[in-house]
Amino acid sequence: MKRDFDITLARKIRWYNFFKNLPGDLAHGLRKRYAPIRGNPPALIERGVTFIYPEYDFCWPPDVELGYNARLRANIAFAGSVTLGDDVVVGHHSILWAIGGGENYIKVGNGTGLGAFTVLMTRFHQYRRKDVRFTKQGPVEGKPIIIGDDCWIGIRSIIMPGVTVGKGAVVGAGAVVTKSVQPYKVVAGNPAKIIGERE
Ligand SMILES: CC(C)(COP(=O)(O)OP(=O)(O)OC[C@H]1O[C@@H](n2cnc3c(N)ncnc32)[C@H](O)[C@@H]1OP(=O)(O)O)[C@@H](O)C(=O)NCCC(=O)NCCS
Repeated sequence: MKRDFDITLARKIRWYNFFKNLPGDLAHGLRKRYAPIRGNPPALIERGVTFIYPEYDFCWPPDVELGYNARLRANIAFAGSVTLGDDVVVGHHSILWAIGGGENYIKVGNGTGLGAFTVLMTRFHQYRRKDVRFTKQGPVEGKPIIIGDDCWIGIRSIIMPGVTVGKGAVVGAGAVVTKSVQPYKVVAGNPAKIIGERE
Protein backbone atom coordinates (compact mmCIF):
# COMPACT_ATOMS: atom_id res chain seq x y z
CA MET A 1 0.00 0.00 0.00
CA LYS A 2 1.34 3.43 -0.93
CA ARG A 3 1.98 5.60 2.12
CA ASP A 4 1.79 9.35 2.07
CA PHE A 5 5.18 10.50 3.30
CA ASP A 6 4.40 14.22 2.86
CA ILE A 7 2.39 14.31 5.98
CA THR A 8 4.38 15.28 9.07
CA LEU A 9 4.11 13.01 12.07
CA ALA A 10 2.67 15.78 14.23
CA ARG A 11 -0.11 16.37 11.72
CA LYS A 12 -0.71 12.67 11.45
CA ILE A 13 -1.07 12.30 15.22
CA ARG A 14 -3.42 15.27 15.35
CA TRP A 15 -5.65 13.70 12.72
CA TYR A 16 -5.40 10.28 14.31
CA ASN A 17 -6.51 11.72 17.64
CA PHE A 18 -9.41 13.43 15.91
CA PHE A 19 -10.63 10.07 14.51
CA LYS A 20 -9.62 8.06 17.58
CA ASN A 21 -13.03 7.67 19.16
CA LEU A 22 -15.32 7.95 16.15
CA PRO A 23 -17.46 4.87 15.42
CA GLY A 24 -18.04 3.30 12.01
CA ASP A 25 -16.13 1.84 9.08
CA LEU A 26 -15.09 5.20 7.69
CA ALA A 27 -13.50 6.06 11.03
CA HIS A 28 -11.69 2.68 11.01
CA GLY A 29 -10.29 3.54 7.60
CA LEU A 30 -9.19 6.99 8.70
CA ARG A 31 -7.53 5.63 11.85
CA LYS A 32 -5.57 3.18 9.71
CA ARG A 33 -4.60 5.95 7.34
CA TYR A 34 -3.41 8.31 10.06
CA ALA A 35 -2.12 5.90 12.75
CA PRO A 36 1.30 7.12 13.89
CA ILE A 37 3.24 3.98 12.95
CA ARG A 38 6.04 2.85 10.66
CA GLY A 39 5.42 0.12 8.12
CA ASN A 40 2.07 -1.40 7.24
CA PRO A 41 -1.02 -0.36 9.14
CA PRO A 42 -2.81 -2.98 11.25
CA ALA A 43 -5.92 -4.63 9.84
CA LEU A 44 -8.15 -3.05 12.44
CA ILE A 45 -7.68 -0.21 14.89
CA GLU A 46 -10.68 -0.10 17.18
CA ARG A 47 -11.95 3.04 18.87
CA GLY A 48 -9.89 4.53 21.69
CA VAL A 49 -6.55 2.91 20.76
CA THR A 50 -3.70 5.03 22.10
CA PHE A 51 -0.28 4.98 20.48
CA ILE A 52 1.66 6.38 23.40
CA TYR A 53 4.82 7.10 21.36
CA PRO A 54 5.05 6.97 17.58
CA GLU A 55 7.63 4.17 17.41
CA TYR A 56 6.20 0.84 16.31
CA ASP A 57 6.96 -1.81 13.76
CA PHE A 58 4.04 -3.41 12.03
CA CYS A 59 5.87 -5.73 9.71
CA TRP A 60 5.46 -8.88 7.62
CA PRO A 61 2.10 -7.82 6.22
CA PRO A 62 0.40 -7.68 9.56
CA ASP A 63 -3.05 -8.96 10.21
CA VAL A 64 -3.08 -7.10 13.50
CA GLU A 65 -6.30 -6.10 15.23
CA LEU A 66 -6.10 -3.59 18.04
CA GLY A 67 -9.11 -3.77 20.34
CA TYR A 68 -11.07 -0.96 21.90
CA ASN A 69 -9.01 1.26 24.17
CA ALA A 70 -5.72 -0.63 23.65
CA ARG A 71 -2.69 1.30 24.89
CA LEU A 72 0.60 0.65 23.13
CA ARG A 73 3.85 1.89 24.63
CA ALA A 74 6.98 2.58 22.58
CA ASN A 75 8.96 0.35 20.23
CA ILE A 76 6.63 -2.59 20.01
CA ALA A 77 7.05 -5.02 17.10
CA PHE A 78 4.00 -6.75 15.69
CA ALA A 79 4.16 -9.28 12.88
CA GLY A 80 1.66 -11.67 11.36
CA SER A 81 -1.65 -12.50 12.95
CA VAL A 82 -2.08 -10.75 16.29
CA THR A 83 -5.38 -9.85 17.94
CA LEU A 84 -5.53 -7.70 21.05
CA GLY A 85 -8.80 -7.56 22.98
CA ASP A 86 -10.25 -4.48 24.62
CA ASP A 87 -8.38 -2.49 27.27
CA VAL A 88 -5.10 -4.30 26.62
CA VAL A 89 -1.82 -2.63 27.57
CA VAL A 90 1.44 -3.58 25.85
CA GLY A 91 4.69 -2.44 27.47
CA HIS A 92 7.75 -0.92 25.82
CA HIS A 93 9.89 -3.04 23.50
CA SER A 94 7.54 -6.01 23.43
CA ILE A 95 7.58 -8.43 20.49
CA LEU A 96 4.39 -10.12 19.28
CA TRP A 97 5.44 -12.23 16.37
CA ALA A 98 3.10 -14.71 14.61
CA ILE A 99 4.33 -15.09 11.04
CA GLY A 100 3.46 -17.85 8.60
CA GLY A 101 -0.31 -18.13 8.59
CA GLY A 102 -2.22 -21.23 9.75
CA GLU A 103 -1.54 -21.91 13.43
CA ASN A 104 0.71 -18.91 13.74
CA TYR A 105 -1.48 -16.52 15.61
CA ILE A 106 -1.54 -14.66 18.92
CA LYS A 107 -4.65 -13.66 20.82
CA VAL A 108 -4.58 -11.49 23.90
CA GLY A 109 -7.76 -11.24 25.98
CA ASN A 110 -9.59 -8.23 27.37
CA GLY A 111 -8.03 -6.23 30.18
CA THR A 112 -4.70 -8.07 29.96
CA GLY A 113 -1.38 -6.32 30.46
CA LEU A 114 1.94 -7.33 28.90
CA GLY A 115 4.93 -5.88 30.75
CA ALA A 116 7.81 -4.23 28.95
CA PHE A 117 10.11 -6.51 26.91
CA THR A 118 7.56 -9.31 26.76
CA VAL A 119 8.22 -11.74 23.91
CA LEU A 120 5.47 -13.82 22.31
CA MET A 121 6.62 -15.81 19.27
CA THR A 122 4.68 -18.64 17.66
CA ARG A 123 7.59 -20.41 15.96
CA PHE A 124 11.36 -20.66 15.83
CA HIS A 125 14.05 -22.19 13.60
CA GLN A 126 14.58 -25.86 12.97
CA TYR A 127 18.06 -26.71 14.18
CA ARG A 128 18.43 -30.52 14.54
CA ARG A 129 20.45 -31.27 11.41
CA LYS A 130 24.14 -30.55 11.87
CA ASP A 131 25.04 -30.69 8.16
CA VAL A 132 22.94 -27.58 7.38
CA ARG A 133 23.24 -24.21 9.03
CA PHE A 134 20.28 -23.64 11.31
CA THR A 135 19.46 -20.44 9.45
CA LYS A 136 18.89 -22.56 6.32
CA GLN A 137 16.69 -25.20 7.94
CA GLY A 138 13.51 -23.16 7.88
CA PRO A 139 11.06 -22.68 10.70
CA VAL A 140 9.33 -25.35 12.76
CA GLU A 141 5.58 -25.51 12.52
CA GLY A 142 4.00 -22.66 14.41
CA LYS A 143 1.67 -23.01 17.38
CA PRO A 144 -0.71 -20.35 18.61
CA ILE A 145 -0.20 -18.34 21.78
CA ILE A 146 -3.40 -17.49 23.58
CA ILE A 147 -3.49 -15.20 26.61
CA GLY A 148 -6.83 -14.98 28.41
CA ASP A 149 -8.69 -12.03 29.85
CA ASP A 150 -7.37 -10.18 32.90
CA CYS A 151 -3.89 -11.72 32.79
CA TRP A 152 -0.81 -9.90 34.09
CA ILE A 153 2.25 -10.88 32.08
CA GLY A 154 5.36 -9.70 33.94
CA ILE A 155 8.16 -7.64 32.56
CA ARG A 156 10.76 -9.45 30.40
CA SER A 157 8.82 -12.69 30.25
CA ILE A 158 8.88 -15.03 27.28
CA ILE A 159 5.83 -17.03 26.26
CA MET A 160 6.73 -20.03 24.10
CA PRO A 161 4.80 -21.34 21.08
CA GLY A 162 1.63 -23.31 21.86
CA VAL A 163 1.18 -21.87 25.34
CA THR A 164 -2.25 -20.85 26.57
CA VAL A 165 -2.34 -18.61 29.62
CA GLY A 166 -5.73 -19.06 31.30
CA LYS A 167 -8.01 -16.27 32.39
CA GLY A 168 -6.71 -14.19 35.27
CA ALA A 169 -3.33 -15.91 35.46
CA VAL A 170 -0.18 -14.02 36.45
CA VAL A 171 3.26 -14.57 34.92
CA GLY A 172 6.15 -13.35 37.06
CA ALA A 173 8.84 -11.00 35.85
CA GLY A 174 11.46 -12.75 33.74
CA ALA A 175 9.55 -16.02 33.42
CA VAL A 176 10.00 -18.38 30.48
CA VAL A 177 6.62 -20.00 30.07
CA THR A 178 6.98 -23.33 28.27
CA LYS A 179 3.68 -24.96 29.31
CA SER A 180 0.10 -23.72 29.46
CA VAL A 181 -0.99 -22.00 32.65
CA GLN A 182 -4.31 -22.72 34.35
CA PRO A 183 -6.69 -19.85 35.08
CA TYR A 184 -5.78 -17.65 38.07
CA LYS A 185 -2.48 -19.44 38.76
CA VAL A 186 0.65 -17.40 39.43
CA VAL A 187 3.75 -18.77 37.71
CA ALA A 188 7.37 -17.62 37.73
CA GLY A 189 10.89 -18.73 36.87
CA ASN A 190 12.60 -20.50 33.99
CA PRO A 191 10.95 -22.79 33.15
CA ALA A 192 7.93 -21.21 34.81
CA LYS A 193 6.36 -23.11 37.72
CA ILE A 194 3.34 -22.40 39.85
CA ILE A 195 4.20 -20.23 42.85
CA GLY A 196 0.69 -19.23 43.88
CA GLU A 197 -2.89 -18.52 42.93
CA ARG A 198 -5.20 -15.51 42.86
CA GLU A 199 -7.96 -15.69 45.44
C1 LIG B 1 4.98 -13.12 40.32
C2 LIG B 1 4.66 -12.01 41.32
C3 LIG B 1 3.35 -11.33 40.97
C4 LIG B 1 4.56 -12.69 42.67
O1 LIG B 1 4.33 -11.75 43.67
P1 LIG B 1 3.91 -12.27 45.13
O2 LIG B 1 2.62 -13.02 45.02
O3 LIG B 1 3.94 -11.09 46.01
O4 LIG B 1 5.00 -13.35 45.46
P2 LIG B 1 6.18 -13.31 46.53
O5 LIG B 1 7.00 -12.08 46.33
O6 LIG B 1 5.57 -13.57 47.87
O7 LIG B 1 7.07 -14.56 46.09
C5 LIG B 1 6.65 -15.89 46.28
C6 LIG B 1 7.82 -16.79 45.89
O8 LIG B 1 7.98 -16.71 44.45
C7 LIG B 1 9.30 -16.21 44.14
N1 LIG B 1 9.13 -15.27 43.04
C8 LIG B 1 8.34 -14.18 43.03
N2 LIG B 1 8.45 -13.57 41.83
C9 LIG B 1 9.31 -14.28 41.10
C10 LIG B 1 9.81 -14.13 39.79
N3 LIG B 1 9.43 -13.14 39.00
N4 LIG B 1 10.67 -15.06 39.33
C11 LIG B 1 11.08 -16.08 40.13
N5 LIG B 1 10.62 -16.27 41.39
C12 LIG B 1 9.75 -15.37 41.86
C13 LIG B 1 9.78 -15.52 45.40
O9 LIG B 1 11.18 -15.49 45.46
C14 LIG B 1 9.15 -16.36 46.47
O10 LIG B 1 9.91 -17.54 46.61
P3 LIG B 1 10.13 -18.24 48.07
O11 LIG B 1 8.75 -18.66 48.51
O12 LIG B 1 11.04 -19.37 47.78
O13 LIG B 1 10.71 -17.18 48.94
C15 LIG B 1 5.76 -10.92 41.33
O14 LIG B 1 6.91 -11.36 42.00
C16 LIG B 1 6.14 -10.48 39.94
O15 LIG B 1 7.06 -11.00 39.27
N6 LIG B 1 5.41 -9.47 39.44
C17 LIG B 1 5.59 -8.93 38.11
C18 LIG B 1 6.15 -7.51 38.25
C19 LIG B 1 6.28 -6.86 36.90
O16 LIG B 1 6.64 -7.47 35.90
N7 LIG B 1 6.02 -5.56 36.85
C20 LIG B 1 6.14 -4.76 35.66
C21 LIG B 1 5.00 -4.91 34.71
S1 LIG B 1 3.60 -3.99 35.20
